Amino acid sequence: MKITVCMGSSCFARGNAQNLEFIENFIKEHKLEAEIELAGNRCEGKCATGPNIIIDGVEYSEMNEEKLEEILKSKI
Ligand code: FES
Repeated sequence: MKITVCMGSSCFARGNAQNLEFIENFIKEHKLEAEIELAGNRCEGKCATGPNIIIDGVEYSEMNEEKLEEILKSKI
């Protein structure tokens, strides 16, 4: 699984700082270090719908920890 977190200042301030922490903890908790590739990208100009996160090529907007948990759990 590949997860790309928008690290642009808008997304980061609007929740991706916490989302990133959540993902890192989730990976540790479930020992998914080998299965999940975590990356960051720059602002893609879609700040209005942020925080944005791409998971396996699918772009998710207005991401929060609840949504993340649901998506990640459905994939492991
Ligand atoms: S900061 Fe994420 S799209 Fe602009």
